[in-house]
Amino acid sequence: MIIDTHAHYDDSQFDGELNSLFEELKQNGVEKIITCATDFLNAENVLNLCEKYDFLYAAVGIYPHHTNKCLFDEQKLESLASHEKAVAIGEIGLDYYYDDSPKNVQLESVEKQLLLANKLNLPVTFHDRDAHEDTLKLLKKYEPKGIVHCFSGSLEMAREIVKIGMYLGIGGALTFKNAKVLPKVVKEIPLENLALETDAPYMSPVPKRGKRNRSDYIKYIAEKIAEIKEISTDEVYKVTTENAEKIFNF
Ligand code: NI
Repeated sequence: MIIDTHAHYDDSQFDGELNSLFEELKQNGVEKIITCATDFLNAENVLNLCEKYDFLYAAVGIYPHHTNKCLFDEQKLESLASHEKAVAIGEIGLDYYYDDSPKNVQLESVEKQLLLANKLNLPVTFHDRDAHEDTLKLLKKYEPKGIVHCFSGSLEMAREIVKIGMYLGIGGALTFKNAKVLPKVVKEIPLENLALETDAPYMSPVPKRGKRNRSDYIKYIAEKIAEIKEISTDEVYKVTTENAEKIFNF
């Protein structure tokens, strides 16, 4: 049984193929998927998809790059989050790699979204790219529930995040040949603090790297975690599935 805690099935790369793809995913053991919105516009599409497909659940929120064009609106986000299939606030976060939205705009938006998530008692799915210091500062300040998606920080940062009670999202990056720190993080941090994710259609794991990602490719990530931790892949699925059910309360 597989839960993919982070994907983007509203992406146009999947247009016209969802029915057949989702049948295959189910056959391959995928039981639940969190599909993440990136602003208010696609949040509607994401929620529509969740109404149509029973195994899809939604995260609704404003992605760091979109904070400039999609201004935070508490009423709007609260109303999106009140949908019965909405189980998280996301994908929110900080991204200083690209500067599509200035830092101060990203920070202002993400703080408001963290506050709202806590107010609604919802977990977050938090994107941190090249923004480790500010990410940790914010997470320590607000202590949200949820996942630091596509974790890319140090082992020390991983320990701090686990202390807050959050989970590390582990995806395709773990399987990349140039992954140096992440395998150490996965070795040291207990399975009880990890969540499996794909970020489909992006971030395909080896041996599918460069192809369109999909939730059943999570098996390559689970196998890699099992290899690093010297445990069975079944154990990886069992514990991470329990983790995901705890996080999203579904
Ligand atoms: Ni994502």
